[in-house]
Amino acid sequence: MSFFREFLRAPLTVGAVLPSGRALAEVATAAVPGTGSPVVVELGPGTGAFTAPIQRRLAGSGRHIAVELNSRFADRLAMLHPAVDVAVADAASLREVLAQRDVSRVDVVVSGLPWAAFEEPVQREVLSEVVAVLDPGGVFTTFAYVHARWAPPAQRLLRSLRSRFEEVVISRTVWANVPPALVYLCRRPIPHCSRQGPKLMSCGSG
Ligand SMILES: C[S@@+](CC[C@H](N)C(=O)[O-])C[C@H]1O[C@@H](n2cnc3c(N)ncnc32)[C@H](O)[C@@H]1O
Repeated sequence: MSFFREFLRAPLTVGAVLPSGRALAEVATAAVPGTGSPVVVELGPGTGAFTAPIQRRLAGSGRHIAVELNSRFADRLAMLHPAVDVAVADAASLREVLAQRDVSRVDVVVSGLPWAAFEEPVQREVLSEVVAVLDPGGVFTTFAYVHARWAPPAQRLLRSLRSRFEEVVISRTVWANVPPALVYLCRRPIPHCSRQGPKLMSCGSG
């Protein structure tokens, strides 16, 4: 099982030809606290580029739940990282995944999801789930490729992030990644954006 083979099987779901490199992983996971007992959720871990640095930062404390749609990736991840609770599930059902585990609040969500490949309703649904589970003091991180940064799906994602979080910080460009990428670090989720109903329309729809 290789990342590239899984890309060939399902290019739109995997969304990248190569896994993220170490430099990008360090930036994307920097918000995971190295102290306390944080609950960390990882979305779309793939072959585990972000999983290892998250585990290193947790150093045996807290909880690390990984949500991966592809069962081959998930099986491999569970074998390589026995301390990680791997759910074979859609990130759009994050609340359900966490409810099954009696987890109601998450400190950090690290996403490796291929946002550019998601249709707008899917993007909106997944972000609603993230905002719904994040602690008010929690952090959400995700990344975008620099070459696609000005393309409509990436612009839509950034607009959605800005409408759902009070603060969105864009990292420096990680040139060492192939392809170069940057990380969005989002803080202070806006609570009404997680609710179902008419108000949802104003959250991340533009
Ligand atoms: C671009 S790869 C990133 C993998 C890894 N995080 C990295 O950076 O190398 C996207 C990953 O998201 C997973 N994925 C795609 N859609 C998903 C969904 N709706 N729910 C959970 N995982 C999903 C894919 O199977 C793949 O493992």
